Amino acid sequence: QGGPLVDTFGRVHRDLRISLTDRCSLRCTYCMPEQGNEWLARTSILSLEEIERIARVAAAAGITTFRLTGGEPLLRNDIVEVVRRLARIEGPAGPVQVAMTTNGIRLREFLPDLIDAGLSRLNISIDTLRRDRFRDLTRRDRLDDVLDGIAAAAESGLTPLKLNAVAMRDVNDDELVELVEFAVAHDAQLRFIEQMPLDAGHTWSRERMVTREEILQALSARWRLTPVAGRGGAPAETWILDDGPHKVGVIASVTAPFCGDCDRLRLTADGQLRNCLFSTTEFDLLPILRSDADDLDARLDAMLRGCILRKLPGHAIDDPSFLQPARGMNAIGG
Ligand code: GTP
Ligand code: 5AD
Ligand code: SF4
Repeated sequence: QGGPLVDTFGRVHRDLRISLTDRCSLRCTYCMPEQGNEWLARTSILSLEEIERIARVAAAAGITTFRLTGGEPLLRNDIVEVVRRLARIEGPAGPVQVAMTTNGIRLREFLPDLIDAGLSRLNISIDTLRRDRFRDLTRRDRLDDVLDGIAAAAESGLTPLKLNAVAMRDVNDDELVELVEFAVAHDAQLRFIEQMPLDAGHTWSRERMVTREEILQALSARWRLTPVAGRGGAPAETWILDDGPHKVGVIASVTAPFCGDCDRLRLTADGQLRNCLFSTTEFDLLPILRSDADDLDARLDAMLRGCILRKLPGHAIDDPSFLQPARGMNAIGG
């Protein structure tokens, strides 16, 4: 016990991604089936107090950022209180940061309270700016709600604001320049994401995936791209557009994985720790949390360390024996 969370490859873990629910207001084809999933049982969903307890133990062990994900985190009715409790936590290096990744729906309504509660940063997903495409891709006609959420985030002054777009062949690959222009107009940084094999239908194929190279080629026709050195543990590589100040990012999890610098750990909405997006083992915190052990925090700490020690050097998407995780992205946490 004690000291930072270091794995057997020397990677120090500072980022805990907390999925708050597996439910979502959209049904993106690369994430969930049309009819949704069989949702996690309500009784297995972590309570506010349980999340706070785990977060305190994690912060004591050197986690400095909590990123709230889903499903859609704003569907949790205690979302503002979750942010407030987590933002109060201090680790050995001072106060933690609380960030959120959301689809933007109803964000305008929540934003003042989230900021008051201590939210530091927002990433919002937007894959297309065309209404018909948005409806086909997400199976919901809610582009206007998302655009309104992005506008509210831009007006709020929370910076840096990042927009995420999964690049998809024959879906939005002719819109890459427009998406960046849209982000620039909102003083936000667009990040294109290579699609990963995490979709419910198991339809992913490397051939259909739009690669980092293709994305850069499309953007180069419009901007001079100057690479920004050093990405730390961040998944995105970034480039300055022309003379700046705006930037664009690419998250090339498949063709240029950042596993070697990975500093993240995940907690699912039902209390399972995962050391990787693609891990096939999970570490169940529920029996500990719901026991009456008087050394509960020490046991949680031991679980965090045990989970980290079993972390593999990286994902094996290219390996013939690669197995897609049993859970979809909505249940793992984006
Ligand atoms: P910051 O860089 O701190 O702003 O956040 P982030 O990029 O880690 O968070 P976000 O939720 O916006 O993630 C964007 C995308 O990065 C996700 O949709 C994933 O595609 C990818 N990503 C996030 N975490 C991981 C991870 O642990 N492994 C891999 N391979 N990809 C990840
Ligand atoms: N591959 C890459 N990114 C994905 N996301 C969801 N599913 C996938 C996938 N299969 C992204 C969303 C959002 C973030 C939470 O995860 O677009 O930006
Ligand atoms: Fe980390 Fe796994 Fe993602 Fe690689 S695939 S960056 S090891 S979480």
